[in-house]
Amino acid sequence: MDFTLTEEQQMIQQAARDFTQNELLPGVIERDEHQSFPAEQVKKMGELGFLGMMVDPKYGGSGLDTLSYALVMEELSKVDASCSVVVSVNNSLVCWGLETFGTEAQKEKYLTRLATGEIIGAFCLSEPEAGSDATSQKTTALDHGDHYVLNGTKNWITNGGTAEVYLVIAQTDIEKGHKGINALIVEKGMDGFEIGPKENKLGIRGSDTHSLIFNDVKVPKENRIGEDGFGFKFAMKTLAGGRIGIAAQALGIAAGAYELALKYSKERKAFGTEIVNHQAIAFKLADMHTKIVAARMLVYKAAMDKDKHENYDLSGAMAKLYASEVAMETAVEAVQIHGGNGFVKDYHVERLMRDAKITQIYEGTSEIQKIVISRSISR
Ligand code: CAA
Ligand code: FAD
Repeated sequence: MDFTLTEEQQMIQQAARDFTQNELLPGVIERDEHQSFPAEQVKKMGELGFLGMMVDPKYGGSGLDTLSYALVMEELSKVDASCSVVVSVNNSLVCWGLETFGTEAQKEKYLTRLATGEIIGAFCLSEPEAGSDATSQKTTALDHGDHYVLNGTKNWITNGGTAEVYLVIAQTDIEKGHKGINALIVEKGMDGFEIGPKENKLGIRGSDTHSLIFNDVKVPKENRIGEDGFGFKFAMKTLAGGRIGIAAQALGIAAGAYELALKYSKERKAFGTEIVNHQAIAFKLADMHTKIVAARMLVYKAAMDKDKHENYDLSGAMAKLYASEVAMETAVEAVQIHGGNGFVKDYHVERLMRDAKITQIYEGTSEIQKIVISRSISR
């Protein structure tokens, strides 16, 4: 495969790199410590076109390919995964789903504002009793003629408090199992829609994670995405692309931690020499670099499969599985290479280590990726 980036892709990568250094790095420690949502940074990312990267320009998007999106995700995540998860959810789970399966009226009403970053969106599949086992939806959307009545609780919703538009997956017909599930567009402020308290998290602490409660929320039928019963397939197809975004996030966390560790190892002296000259440290760096390059190839391959309209369920799951394992491993080793300094906030690697963990959990845990991969290769 040819992984050479085009001139345009290189320019986008550089723009994301500059933005990360100039706008994300200052303040990232404080945002993490105080769990502050990066509102100002998200607004600027909207202005740069990062929130609707793959959306057609006629709906306010940047009209770019998935590889460009992955490059931006990688760069942002080297420093601030709380910011990059906003980019990932808005692009892959909300804009892509609406553009691919929404009606023209839905696109006009919601997509343009989402793609420009005027508002942000949320994707609501997980529930207290339906995480990995996503078909076990307890939230109901009962058919009342011209509208659905939505009842239930979603949890762990990224952008939960800050979003204006929520794509909510719910069970309409229990008898039909996963074929009786629908995806509905719910707006903040609809009667009966409540936002629960913000979660106090280990990592991606700047990201805004909430549970959502629906009490007899009336959702017009025109807000259903796709045919009646398409909701579960909608979620699965959308997540297949989302996993490429999270794989790129994991890659970025790994690369960010590695770059810091490499720099530190060339500066820090112990036993009369820079620690990079101790083979135990040099070999750690060699392993980190090798695994990051391998993860990058998997991420690029999955993005390129999507751009070529080939099946990307398998390559996306492999990229997410591998890159998230590499993120966790690399970040732990980066802390080790920093010694005591790795354990304090000023050196950034402890945050990257905490942020890395979520990439093995959300958008399908590592165990779920193995289910997707094993089913695909044994089919
Ligand atoms: N594309 C299209 N259809 C798909 C599909 C895909 N990628 N994957 C599954 N389906 C279809 C199946 O074909 C099947 O339909 P048919 O019966 O018509 O063939 C239907 O969906 C049910 O599939 P399974 O029988 O495979 O369902 P399952 O109960 O065994 O579960 C699973 C499959 C892959 C484990 C799925 O439940 C899953 O992905 N779970 C993880 C959920 C998840 O990733 N949640 C993430 C929430 S969002 C998030 O986390 C955002 C964030 O952090 C920022
Ligand atoms: P469980 O499904 O209860 O899994 C517990 C453990 O059992 C895991 O290790 C899992 O891998 C394992 N396990 C479960 N089933 C199997 C099996 N069949 N085989 C082997 N192992 C198995 N969800 C959304 O819908 N939207 C969001 O925006 C969103 N954002 C999130 C943000 C954060 C910070 C967090 C923490 C979560 C977010 N999630 C979101 C939810 C996330 O997708 C789920 O947490 C995840 O899918 C796992 O579900 P669970 O937590 O219920 O764990």
